[in-house]
Amino acid sequence: MKKSLFALAFASLFAASCAFAAYVPGETKKLVVGTSCTYPPYEFVSPEGKPSGFDIELMEAIGAKMGVAIEWFDTGKFDSLLAAIPTGKVDCAIAGMSATKERAKRMLFSDIYEVSHSAIVTKASLSPKNDADLKGLVGSVQQGTVQETALLPIKDQFGFELKLFPKFDDCMLDMVTGRTDFSLMDIPVAHKYMAMPAFQGKIKIAYSKIITGAGKAIAMPLGSDALAADINKALAALEADGTVQALRDKWGIKFEI
Ligand code: ARG
Repeated sequence: MKKSLFALAFASLFAASCAFAAYVPGETKKLVVGTSCTYPPYEFVSPEGKPSGFDIELMEAIGAKMGVAIEWFDTGKFDSLLAAIPTGKVDCAIAGMSATKERAKRMLFSDIYEVSHSAIVTKASLSPKNDADLKGLVGSVQQGTVQETALLPIKDQFGFELKLFPKFDDCMLDMVTGRTDFSLMDIPVAHKYMAMPAFQGKIKIAYSKIITGAGKAIAMPLGSDALAADINKALAALEADGTVQALRDKWGIKFEI
């Protein structure tokens, strides 16, 4: 009895730690795709409670091309998503994620599907022109992001405070309620928030800021070479037939300020 309980516990532990079988082209029918739904227009939870946005529709289109269904796994927190990828808790992840060299040590990236440019967004009453003007201000970034990596090491040098939030929408709520002065984000995210009724006229883009220069890509556990090859094939086809550009237009993915 003891022995079989142990075996059962071990079996379920094993199942939980590698919940998803490796992708086999032509055989795999479903991919579990991780995302972090607090970053519109890339991904957010729709009023109906479903993952929505540019990345969501792009991944659904990739799945359709590959002949696999997509099951969404929203971790909410971005750093939880980063942790879930190398362990194989998800087959892959799409979350406006910059394919940095640092991350590539722990995960495999698809081809780049999007450029990445960030900007400092402030309360409408402020007009910093560069990092030196952030002196004395309170800023925020989403934990685990390249925006955190960009600002954390320079906060003392430039004399600003930095709050870290696991979910990006909390950065924006904190600013619109006046508790923080600025946040750093991808430029399409800034445009999206500036257009929302709750934020309109209350926030603005102050200046653009180059972070890593790394483009956005889909992340997979290291060794997912067959999956990466098929994702890249589907991406190339969707870029060639205009689907990706149509999605960029639909979701307002543009990097002009
Ligand atoms: N591009 C940034 C990064 O890769 C931010 C991504 C945040 N994405 C999200 N879904 N919350 O670090």
